[in-house]
Formats: sequence, structure tokens, C-alpha cells
Amino acid sequence: TWTMSNVVDDQVVAIRERIGDRRALCALSGGVDSAVAAALVQRAIGDKLTCVYVDHGLMRAGETEQIERDFAATTGADLRVVDAGEQFLAALAGVSDPEEKRKIIGREFIRVFEQAATDVVADAQAHGETVDFLVQGTLYPDVVESGGGAGTANIKSHHNVGGLPEDLTFDLVEPLRTLFKDEVREVGRQLGLPDRLVQRQPFPGPGLGIRIVGEVTRERLDVLRKADAIAREELSAATLDDEIWQCPVVLLADVRSVGVQGDGRTYGHPVVLRPVSSEDAMTADWTRLPYDVLARISTRITNEVEEINRVALDVTSKPPGTIEWE
Ligand code: XMP
Repeated sequence: TWTMSNVVDDQVVAIRERIGDRRALCALSGGVDSAVAAALVQRAIGDKLTCVYVDHGLMRAGETEQIERDFAATTGADLRVVDAGEQFLAALAGVSDPEEKRKIIGREFIRVFEQAATDVVADAQAHGETVDFLVQGTLYPDVVESGGGAGTANIKSHHNVGGLPEDLTFDLVEPLRTLFKDEVREVGRQLGLPDRLVQRQPFPGPGLGIRIVGEVTRERLDVLRKADAIAREELSAATLDDEIWQCPVVLLADVRSVGVQGDGRTYGHPVVLRPVSSEDAMTADWTRLPYDVLARISTRITNEVEEINRVALDVTSKPPGTIEWE
């Protein structure tokens, strides 16, 4: 729309004026907000922006590749992907407690990002340049939620970068601070980002790490990724993406039940489908998905994912349940 194209033009001018010919850094999370903020800054200062994407190994099937393809290819942004999957898995070994998992993932994220940021700063200094700015995809609701304070790097969840050491300080650039989610999506479209990125449903920063009830292991992640990909595929094929807010698929990794698959008795794991409808994730209702869609998802998951022999549906609203299980 006319208004959003104005927002883009105004922001590009403002960002250019503020940053000048210095450099900026942005942590991409894989989500809409950081991608749109980065694309906007990229439009303003081009290759003076370096984007860092920490691959924690907890993303869904194809998502890291999507960042490389959809984001880097369409914006031309300088993107550094840090493959840190091993480090996260090692740190998560033996841990089942949800809050403990969240803390570990947050801590490792900051460690990895800090190292990447240090490298970016060193590279710039080698060329006589400085990296003075950190781009964040803070939206208006985030500003309100955190009390409206401006300018310091200390926000809610782990992929919003807080806690950087003192010799690594940046001024924040938050070009989406006045916008709501739907406006951010429109800005993303104006900037040429593909729909599958711009329309992406919310996904928690700790990723699949908090959708495995129990310890997170590589094998369990692989199992959950397969089940999740099937659910997403079938929901999209049934054109239900706009009706649901999000649909976590949760692996109950420590639960087993008896089943019969193919020639014999199995003793496999259940997954839970958690389709929810919501306006803002503060409250939610479980989505009344059509039975035939549920049936297809269930049949495909139990046929195609060997380790899973049961599919359950979560019919709890929020409150009392949260959207995620952890
Ligand atoms: P809950 O489970 O609290 O989730 O009902 C509300 C919304 O927030 C998402 N979520 C997160 N997003 N970092 C994020 O960026 C997180 O650590 C996190 N935990 C939950 C969740 O997917 C839902 O949309």
C-alpha cells in the first residue's frame, strides 16, 4: 500500500542518515521481524550490513536453507551462517527440565553470537572501519511490553540479543519500532521478500528444543522434524495456514505406547498436534481442524515416521494451557 511504501522510503533515508558510512550488524533468527528489519537496513546501507544467523540445529526441516535462499538471495545481504548445532546438542545433553533447556539455549546463543560479532568487528577494523550499530526487529507491541525504553540491548527472548560484553557495545537500530506485525509483513513484501518468509507463523527462539518433552538428542530432533514437516505440508495443502495462528507438533520423547504397525507390535512414541487460533498469542483457542485433515496428518505421520505410532490432538485453550508445551 501507499502508506507502507512511504514507511520504507522514510526509513531508508533515516537509516542512511544515521549510519552514514559506518557498519551495522544484525542477528537473523529465521523469523519475520529480524528478516524485515535486516532487509530494510540492507536497502539503506547495502554491504555495510553484515547479517549473522546462528544455526542452533533446532530449526524445522528446510528452514536454515530457506534463510540462505529466500533471505540472502532476495536481498543480496552479506550473510554469515554459523553452524553451531553440535555445540547446542552437547550443552543440552542430559537435560529435560524446560526452563533449564531454555536457559542453556539462550546462553549458548549469546556465546556463539558474541564470537561471530567479535569476528565481524575484527574484519571491519582490519579495513579501517567500525561496526557501531546492531539492528533489531523490535515491533511496537515489544516496545509497549518492555515499558517503552529505547536504545539498549536487553529484550525478552534469547534471539533478541541481550547480555553482550562491555567491549562489544552497539547503538540499536530498530526500524520496526512503530509497526504492528501485519504492517511489518507489508513492509517485507514491499522489499521483495517472498511470501513464505513474510507469512511465516510464529516459531519460538529455542526452536524444537522446547517441543521435545524430555532430553533433546539428534535422533529425537530428526523424528520430530519429519512429523512436523508432514503436518505443515498437509495444513498448507488444505489451505489452512491463514486460519491457524500456529501448530506446534510436540514429541513426547519419554512416553511410549504399544501399537501395531506393518507386521508387528511396536512400542513407539506419540506426537501431539497443537493447532491454535489466536490474535496475539496471549490467549488462544484450539483450532477445530477438519477431521479429514487430522486423519491425513495422522495416517501419514504414523506411516512415514517409523518411531511414531500414535498422534494425539491437544484440545486445551490458553489459558489454562500455554501454546507451547514447555
Ligand atoms: P506460550 O507457549 O507462552 O507461547 O503460550 C506464546 C507465543 O510465544 C512463542 N514463544 C516464543 N517465542 N522465544 C520466542 O521468540 C521464545 O522463547 C518463545 N517461547 C514461546 C510461542 O511459539 C507462541 O507463539
